[in-house]
Amino acid sequence: MSKLTLKEIPLEGKRVFVRVDFNVPLSPEGEVLDDSKILASLSTLRYLSEAGARVVVATHLGRPRGQVVEELRLDPVVERLSRLMGMSVKKADGVIGKKVEKAVAELRPGEIIFLENIRFAAGEEKNDPQFAAALARLADVFVNDAFGTAHREHASNCGIARYLPAVAGLLMETEIQYLSRSRDNPPRPLVAVLGGRKVADKIGVIRFFLEQADALLLGGGMANTFLQARGLELGNSFFEEGKTEDARRLMEEAEKKAAAIYLPRDLVITRELRPNAECKIVLPGEIPPGWHAVDLGPETVAEFSEVIRGARMVLWNGPLGAYEVPPFDRGTEMIARAIVDSGAESIIGGGDIVAALEKLGLAERMIHLSTGGGAVLNFWEGKELPGIAALMDRSGAESK
Ligand code: 3PG
Repeated sequence: MSKLTLKEIPLEGKRVFVRVDFNVPLSPEGEVLDDSKILASLSTLRYLSEAGARVVVATHLGRPRGQVVEELRLDPVVERLSRLMGMSVKKADGVIGKKVEKAVAELRPGEIIFLENIRFAAGEEKNDPQFAAALARLADVFVNDAFGTAHREHASNCGIARYLPAVAGLLMETEIQYLSRSRDNPPRPLVAVLGGRKVADKIGVIRFFLEQADALLLGGGMANTFLQARGLELGNSFFEEGKTEDARRLMEEAEKKAAAIYLPRDLVITRELRPNAECKIVLPGEIPPGWHAVDLGPETVAEFSEVIRGARMVLWNGPLGAYEVPPFDRGTEMIARAIVDSGAESIIGGGDIVAALEKLGLAERMIHLSTGGGAVLNFWEGKELPGIAALMDRSGAESK
């Protein structure tokens, strides 16, 4: 990897500003529902604390758009972090300003303070230079561990890097290593599995896989848009009305490309999306009015599994059915099991599919679960991620 990491710079006694992505789901009562993003950055925070740094941590939570939103305060996140770290993590009263500066100045080596939700500040998403400079005044070094926000060009992950030496955290390093290999040097055959609802945010990545992969397996709501583009009757199934033309064009392009697109051959349909609702298996094109597709059918699972069996690497983004509502998680589960049984290197692009695999108890069987959602798609698509570009290169690391 060409980016400098926190292991390569002196840390003892330094004030270190760490950007993490702790954008975690909260219950209506404000309880952290899934702490996997927090767990993913623990080693970076522990490393810094044990190295004797004075650690200032920032994350966004939700999209408060430059306003203070009470439900998006970070107290539950900081509480969970303290518990997981086994040490008391302080929490600042705001994001910048005199009080915050005083609290940071009082930090002793090894101590950690968390700023309030960075997106409460209007300068964050605008990447405002003055705001970035104010953040930079809190530290001597910048560590970016927030791979999940690397596709955003904001003050706390990009602007700040203009003022401080900027290096990758341990999670960021791991993400870049696995994802670079999957994009630039994958073992073959390479199979890509894409699900989730929307085609709109995956067009670029589909094009990339059509060039680079050997097979592209499509499921979930997004497959419906492709089936619709083939003129098949989908009953009341979800599909993206405005994207059928894109889907049709991608299928046309696929005919001239390396990768074959596989669409569902059969589907599980239901009238009501509730646990154990009445369901049946039909061919696409035979979905009656009032019914909608909620999962892959058994023939599709068998065909997808057969393709996966021959793979040496599988990249997966997006669940293949309504995984939150059993038994419509079965397609996703069977494909996950096929991946595990194939022995292929499995790289899972974050978001819902990670939640689905965790729920199914299969997350730990995968080789790498990314913490990024949009960031992974942008990465696979070959876009430059500003949050990574802003970090110092290992060769010719300039001093700031
Ligand atoms: C995510 O959850 O994907 C990241 O935290 C990015 O969040 P954002 O889409 O609000 O920038």
